This record gives sequence, C-alpha cells and structure tokens, in this order.
Amino acid sequence: MRKTNEKNCILRGVCVKAGSESHCNKLCPLYNSMHGHKGIGGRVAMANIPKDYQKMTISHNPVREVQKQAYFLIDRWAKKFFPLIFEENAERIKPLYLYSKEVGTGKTATAASIANSFLVYTFTEALKRGQQPLERPVYFLDFNQWQREFAAFNNPKIPRDMGEKMARKFYEIRDIAKDVLLLVVDDIGIEDPSNAFHGIAHDLINHRLVNWLPTIFTSNVEMEDLLLRYDKRLFDRIRDHNSQIEFIGTSHRGMRQDFDV
Ligand SMILES: Nc1ncnc2c1ncn2[C@@H]1O[C@H](COP(=O)(O)OP(=O)(O)OP(=O)(O)O)[C@@H](O)[C@H]1O
Ligand SMILES: [Mg+2]
Repeated sequence: MRKTNEKNCILRGVCVKAGSESHCNKLCPLYNSMHGHKGIGGRVAMANIPKDYQKMTISHNPVREVQKQAYFLIDRWAKKFFPLIFEENAERIKPLYLYSKEVGTGKTATAASIANSFLVYTFTEALKRGQQPLERPVYFLDFNQWQREFAAFNNPKIPRDMGEKMARKFYEIRDIAKDVLLLVVDDIGIEDPSNAFHGIAHDLINHRLVNWLPTIFTSNVEMEDLLLRYDKRLFDRIRDHNSQIEFIGTSHRGMRQDFDV
C-alpha cells in the first residue's frame, strides 16, 4: 500500500479524501492551503504555530488523555465559540487562561491544538458558505520572546539599522495580534514587564477585550499573581469571565519528542 499524506495534514479529521491513495498527497490543494506544498507554509505557518505542534488538533494530540478535566472545558468552549465566528451580533466569547504551576504539562500543545482546530473550522466553514477562507484567522504569539525582542531593540547599544528592523517586525506582530479573530498569548508572566512594554501589552489585550475578540493565554503564573504584575483592572476583566483552566501533573517534556499520528 502506498503511503498517503494523511498524517501530515490537520484537515485529516474532516477531509473525505484523507488517506485516499489517489488524492491524499503533497499536491493536494487543500493540504497546500494549510501547510504549503513543502509542508512549512500555508495557513499554519501564517498563524505562527510552533513546529512541534503543527499537526495537533483539539481531538488529536497527546495531552488530551491526561488532562481530562481541562479538555472537558476546552471541548465545551470550542463547540460554543467556533460557530459564533460566522454569526452576526454574536455574544462575547470568554478568554481562556491555561495555567499550571508545573512546566511541561501540555498548555502550549493545547493552545496550538485549539489554534489548528480553529484554522480547520474557519477554512471548511467558509468553503461550505461559498466564501474565501481567511488567510490568517488566528495567530500564535510567543509572548516571552516578543517581550525579549522589545527589550533588545530598546537597548541603546544595539546598532541603529538592526534596532529599526527589529522594531518594525515587533510592531507588525503587534498589529496582527490586535485584530486576528483568535489570538494565542503563549507564556505570559515569565518576566516582569518594563513600563513601556506594559503599555503595549495593555493596549493589545485591552483592544481585544473591548472589541470582543477572544484570546487564549498560557502561563505558569496564576492569574491572581499576574494581576500584580500587569494592569489590575485589565486582568480583573479577564478573571471576571472565570476562564482559568488548570493543567495537572508533572512535566511530560522529553518523554515524547515527536507527535506521531
Ligand atoms: N499528557 C501528555 N502526554 C504526552 N505528551 C505530553 C503531555 N503533556 C505534554 N506533552 C508533551 O510535552 C511537551 C511539553 O508540552 P508543552 O510545551 O505543551 O508544555 P507547557 O505546559 O506549555 O510547558 P511550559 O509550562 O514549560 O510552557 C510537548 O512535546 C508535549 O507534546
Ligand atoms: Mg508552554
């Protein structure tokens, strides 16, 4: 039997041609839309999903079996939230805050899985409605790295042209993150923010709250503690939606390097 491309594609759960020897290969236009013909482009790359987590979806990832309570809540959230994207005057979607004190419990894998499932949903639903699917409905922001980049180009010792280039990229990401339908803010709270960065983070998160755009946070810092580092009123509003989901247990990092379908 010839090997098909099924396991490389996040559409495998919804595609009727998944696993078909004649259609399920790297030339498939739908695969190209999601992953690019070399498997490193498409909407998954536009969403900035980290490489390790590009094939996972909510229903298909290694974390699900262990974090049963978290996935009960996430399934419910996704089932309710995803369809609202196509509704006019829809109700506000609550943000999610995926938290564990321990590292390596699967928060980032889960946030990326939700982002991928959201990509699949918006893509297939738009096609069903005869609409052009959005190129970038979701964006994965590595918050800790973004914060470090801000510090780097604000360092007076950085060469001017390099600083300007980094600043341009930083603000481009800020603009994308402000307006995507769904934003993942991965790893918030590792480092204390400078005043200037605090202002930018506040502006981003507040803009999304005011415009009813949902955000998924992951963090090793309990939301209560984040309130002390960031604008209290801002996170009070996120907390009001009662959205913290706790991940239990100890680290799985290194136990399974590659996620195989
Ligand atoms: N329950 C699990 N079963 C199998 N693998 C898991 C499980 N939980 C996490 N992993 C794997 O462990 C690695 C670390 O997971 P992940 O990066 O999502 O953790 P995290 O909670 O975001 O960690 P951190 O707190 O350091 O940000 C990943 O490769 C992930 O696929
Ligand atoms: Mg993480």
